[in-house]
Amino acid sequence: MMAQDLYRLIYLSNNEITGDATIIQQEIRQILTISRQRNAEVGITGALMFNKNCFAQVLEGPHDQLQETFERIQCDPRHSNVIILNFESMQTRHFSQWSMAYVSQEAADSAQFARIQRDSGFDPNQLTGERIYDLLHVHLQAAEKNNSNQVY
Ligand SMILES: Cc1cc2nc3c(=O)[nH]c(=O)nc-3n(C[C@H](O)[C@H](O)[C@H](O)COP(=O)(O)O)c2cc1C
Repeated sequence: MMAQDLYRLIYLSNNEITGDATIIQQEIRQILTISRQRNAEVGITGALMFNKNCFAQVLEGPHDQLQETFERIQCDPRHSNVIILNFESMQTRHFSQWSMAYVSQEAADSAQFARIQRDSGFDPNQLTGERIYDLLHVHLQAAEKNNSNQVY
């Protein structure tokens, strides 16, 4: 794969999954299972962040595969108001070891995640693509170092 073919896309959306914690968790599990399977098949990597109200996702990979994947994601009724914050070519992957890393509310115990929440209020209007990217990246690096089970 040629390096110049790599793109990164960051979006925000509103969660449309309703129900109790168990139901939400089941839906998220399903999203992650299919995402990891399909992303691995087409060379997409990235990270997904979720709280009660919003999703934030970083997707990276070859242009066409990224576009195809995102078009599918955009049509998914489990979220709405999908806003692209960033779409640009990049030299190297930053989530190369994750077909789809997951940062959840369950990570709320970590000081790192608490800071993310505090900094942003997880308010879409306060979060730029760069900021989300940085937050996810820093969080995942910290989790990896701690061998934490807060990232699935
Ligand atoms: C917030 C969110 C993130 C998702 N991320 C991905 C992803 O990274 N890759 C993927 O293939 N599907 C992802 N999906 C699932 C797709 O929307 C879709 O359900 C799945 O790819 C299966 O598509 P199909 O039923 O047309 O085969 C995501 C869905 C949601 C709601």
